Amino acid sequence: MSNKAPKKKTSQADAPKKITIRSFALKKKRGEKLTMLTAYDYPTALAVDLAGIDSILVGDSLGMVVLGYENTLPVTMEDMLHHCKAVSRGASQALLIGDMPFMSYQVSIEQAVANAGRFLQEAGMDAVKLEGGQERAEAVRQMVAAGIPVMGHLGLTPQSVHQLGGWRSQGRTVRAAKRLLEDALALQEAGAFSIVLESVPARLAELISQRLRIPTIGIGAGINCDGQVLVTHDLLGLFDRFTPKFVRQYASLHNTMAEAFAAYRAEVLEGNFPGEEHSVAMKDENWDKLIKDVGGKE
Ligand code: KIV
Repeated sequence: MSNKAPKKKTSQADAPKKITIRSFALKKKRGEKLTMLTAYDYPTALAVDLAGIDSILVGDSLGMVVLGYENTLPVTMEDMLHHCKAVSRGASQALLIGDMPFMSYQVSIEQAVANAGRFLQEAGMDAVKLEGGQERAEAVRQMVAAGIPVMGHLGLTPQSVHQLGGWRSQGRTVRAAKRLLEDALALQEAGAFSIVLESVPARLAELISQRLRIPTIGIGAGINCDGQVLVTHDLLGLFDRFTPKFVRQYASLHNTMAEAFAAYRAEVLEGNFPGEEHSVAMKDENWDKLIKDVGGKE
């Protein structure tokens, strides 16, 4: 008889539930809020997943909060795929969405579909996100036809920061608000499974959310979107260059990190680190023999 403990059988019901685009649709139908956060690396993906967040966006915001660029425009496909791969190794439940970087989907539909496919085929993502409305509807349609779930992004679209004349909220005039609603309907009609609404009036975001069958995810778009997203580095207080008005900081990790680094530096300078418990021991008999052989202090 084997003395090994019998392996506990895990039924399908025990297995952690993977969030899919179907879960997104169901949550909207049931009126349950969706939660989304960004992550760009393995440990953050692990923690976000553990917290039960529905979706992880590997946002091109990584260009600013991780790579130190002024805006998201310099981020490349290779940057995105590299970070998406790390995130996909850390998360097992959240729906993983890779953000298509500037110029990876604007040049031609063929290139857009091929680049979108790389997020799923090479980087372990479940879906992609892209910015823009009616002008991107055909690209969205073709991606969806190829089996690639697509999330839209309207309002303050950071890849158009120069076109928009800066980081400005959108949809505040009647004309701009109508255009945003039409863009949202066009993305839905093209097959997008969800749309991010960034920095638009709360009452407009509510109206769009009511008019759409698919869920809206708000960032700076008020409480009545179907879900919310934040850039994790903003939420954690890890990015100190500026904090957008719509961010609530749940921690102040930049300060915590700086304090920890300063404490480490001080202890090294004072000779208090490393302690004996951090050091590797050697038996006296070996030490004595070594000193006898090579000379040195006992
Ligand atoms: O890149 C990003 O993190 C985003 C979110 C702000 C939605 O697009």
